[in-house]
Amino acid sequence: MAQRLKNMRGKLDDIANDKNKFDLASRVGEIAADHTYDWRLTSSIVNESEILGRGKEKEELVNILLTNADDLSIHAVWGMGGLGKTALAQSVYNEERVQKQFDLNIWVCVSTNFDIKRLTRAIIESIDGASCDLQELDPLQQCLQLKLTGQKFLLVLDDVWDDYNDRWNKLKEVLRSGAKGSAVLVTTRMEMVARRMATAFCPAHGKIV
Ligand SMILES: Nc1ncnc2c1ncn2[C@@H]1O[C@H](COP(=O)(O)OP(=O)(O)O)[C@@H](O)[C@H]1O
Ligand SMILES: [Mg+2]
Repeated sequence: MAQRLKNMRGKLDDIANDKNKFDLASRVGEIAADHTYDWRLTSSIVNESEILGRGKEKEELVNILLTNADDLSIHAVWGMGGLGKTALAQSVYNEERVQKQFDLNIWVCVSTNFDIKRLTRAIIESIDGASCDLQELDPLQQCLQLKLTGQKFLLVLDDVWDDYNDRWNKLKEVLRSGAKGSAVLVTTRMEMVARRMATAFCPAHGKIV
């Protein structure tokens, strides 16, 4: 065993030497700190002509959003990666009737980073179309609350990996300051996340809860 460990240490040393020899930089820390890989980022922009065969699902979702009379309804689309959740949300988001229905249309790509300050700032920036320099949670939340008050908004939270329940509850409290008829549309791979976050359930449709 001791000999095998010694050999293994030798191999690890060789790998470390190779890394130095080829001047490879270690970026693991950087990526982990950022949490969001560029290729995972999404925006509301879509080429509608490339979205095929989703007419029925789109119409269902559009109707849900247009006829919603709750103070704040939260809907979720869930299913495995690559299924077309983001594309469906983009298509619904860009629908003319939906754009007209809401005073504010907000798109935020959540991905693996459900950081409450980042999300609050991203929502503010999506509303303003400009960067927001606020750093602390309280001013960020106050700023968002002010912007949402009296406004009917649609917020898409795309590709949520985990809602961390308490963080989502904190964000949801601020979202409640929007006008009646405001809605959140979540896309996620995780059924548990969809069920925890959504307030409206349509189990018959499978992917839309
Ligand atoms: N209805 C569709 N017709 C054609 N291409 C689609 C459709 N839905 C999704 N795609 C394409 O499939 C890929 C994965 O879709 P995406 O919406 O990102 O999936 P998800 O969000 O479920 O992981 C994308 O390149 C997207 O453009
Ligand atoms: Mg997606």
